[in-house]
Amino acid sequence: MLSVDDGLILGIETSCDETAAAILKGTAAAGQRVLGHSLLSQIDLHALYGGVVPEIAARAHIDHLDRLILDALKQAGLPSGADGFAALSGVAATTGPGLIGGVIVGSMTGKAIALAAHKPFLAVNHLEGHALSARLEKDVSFPYLLLLMSGGHCQILIVQDVGRYQRLGTTLDDAIGEAFDKTAKMLGLGYPGGPAVEKAALRALARKKDAGHRFPFPRPLVGRPGCDFSFSGLKTAVRQAIEKTAPCSEDDIEDLCASFQQAAADVLADRVKNATRQARETLTDFPQNKALPLVVAGGVAANQTLRTVLEEAAHLYGLTLEAPAPWLCTDNAAMIAWAGWEKLCRGQTDALDTAPRPRWPLDPTQG
Ligand code: KG4
Ligand code: ZN
Repeated sequence: MLSVDDGLILGIETSCDETAAAILKGTAAAGQRVLGHSLLSQIDLHALYGGVVPEIAARAHIDHLDRLILDALKQAGLPSGADGFAALSGVAATTGPGLIGGVIVGSMTGKAIALAAHKPFLAVNHLEGHALSARLEKDVSFPYLLLLMSGGHCQILIVQDVGRYQRLGTTLDDAIGEAFDKTAKMLGLGYPGGPAVEKAALRALARKKDAGHRFPFPRPLVGRPGCDFSFSGLKTAVRQAIEKTAPCSEDDIEDLCASFQQAAADVLADRVKNATRQARETLTDFPQNKALPLVVAGGVAANQTLRTVLEEAAHLYGLTLEAPAPWLCTDNAAMIAWAGWEKLCRGQTDALDTAPRPRWPLDPTQG
């Protein structure tokens, strides 16, 4: 095992519509680890189409990744090019899951730098980047409960250690981020929808405290056993409410957002309750009287209203909520560098012929 002060990692993220590079220092001082990070969102390129176009995304990653890596090196005070790469301890790149064109661009770039600079390559699972992101900023120790909610995923897992995940539940249809994005699209709020829905809901709540209860949307699976999610019925209910209310005023749109967000929040809190029970039964060595950390991660975890609801749920169920800074919740390269560092410290380096993967579950028993 390397000591915690042993080096610098370059992280590369290209699995969806964000091109990002970061330089991270493997130091014991949580909070001072990110030396440089640069990120280019492709939102404008895809907004016209109402969603991410894989071919356009891959081309944009090719166009911008080199510059972003140089920018991250510069921010970290490292020379550009070979001298900068020589200072690294390893190169980490998202190698899946995600849009395969983008994953190939990022992982090939990472491998080329690792090969040229004679550094270890770390093939990072994008979901593991999210899963470990809370540990970058704070000393969150294993095991913990993880609520991973992003544009492509909605899962609850027990995180035993780096590389050791047990999935308790997942979505049976849409991911929660998808539900936010589709709600926004139906209401004409643009893409990506999550932040727009959150802002509109906040305006509604500022106007009327109970705006989140104006539309009685369903809470799919709430009260049922297990930890799975379902969001497609909620999405349909939002569509029907829009049709019934049309033409929607600004206030109607805001109230619809607040009511949708409240329904989503209630679903999350209910699933966390069941997951806590299951985790306690599974983690027999974990002291029953000790609070288990509940880590939230993924783009949707940037939502402040959901964080507040989850904070209350955590308090109720004997958990401590650990929520990374919002910029670490949405896709970024710092979390990839960090996951790479965690792997490197455990000697888990990867061969240069490691194949990029469009699918890559955290829990291999739950493909
Ligand atoms: O983790 P992420 O950046 O990319 C994926 O790995 O999918 O998550 C993107 C998702 C999108 O669906 C976006 O609308 C949602 O996260 N999102 C939010 C917020 N910020 C981003 N959803 C709700 N509230 C937010 N503030
Ligand atoms: Zn992500």
